Amino acid sequence: SRTGAAVADLAGRRVLVSAGGTREYLDPVRFLGNRSSGRQGYALARAAVARGAEVTLVAANVDLPDPAGVTVVRVETTEQLRDAVVAGAKDADAVVMAAAPADFRPSSFSDAKIKKRADGSAAPLELVQNPDILAAISHERARVGSVVVGFAAETGDATGSVLDLGRAKLARKGCDLLVVNDVSGGAVFGSTENEAVILAADGASVEVPRAAKGVLAHAIWDQVAARL
Ligand code: CTP
Ligand code: CA
Repeated sequence: SRTGAAVADLAGRRVLVSAGGTREYLDPVRFLGNRSSGRQGYALARAAVARGAEVTLVAANVDLPDPAGVTVVRVETTEQLRDAVVAGAKDADAVVMAAAPADFRPSSFSDAKIKKRADGSAAPLELVQNPDILAAISHERARVGSVVVGFAAETGDATGSVLDLGRAKLARKGCDLLVVNDVSGGAVFGSTENEAVILAADGASVEVPRAAKGVLAHAIWDQVAARL
């Protein structure tokens, strides 16, 4: 693991990192969201700066200060995240999707605050699926030879183990690397540490034992740098 005096193996490279969790508004005061803190994405941005990259960080609802030397673009919804990532991917050598986009959004937005009903019944909530940003940028490859990285938090289920599901997701998304977290042991949200297996489309895999999120960040950039 590195200590911060990293080699400048990303010098002259442009990288884009997404972080945080998107929000999908029902009305002016309410949203559907998730508990992603953005810490892993911020650690990736700081690690890339330390290795000499020009870094854009697309941050969705992250309550952390802007990392030094990073261009931060703040977004709220999945569609805003998609627009910012697709725009940034055009001249990025690497894109890392550490953000947790909401999979669904309300099918309509109410300009007026939704009120309770006199009969005590719940208002119907119809959802539609959000665009898959990682699959879109992986399949489009706006920049030839760019490296695209996704994240997946899995528990494993009747259809396969954590790694089986990770391999299937890597193939489905079409990205080069997928950072797989086993979350069957409990919540990792808000933690300053992380552990993962980095799966590569070329068949390789690298295990990163539990450590500060900066250690996993550097392990991910090691794999990206080797493929640029
Ligand atoms: N992702 C994305 N756009 C979405 C959903 C997810 O780009 N609408 C990205 C995430 O940033 C992450 C990767 O895809 O890098 C995997 O996210 P995950 O939620 O595991 O994938 P899903 O396709 O949403 O699958 P699942 O049904 O397991 O949630
Ligand atoms: Ca999802």
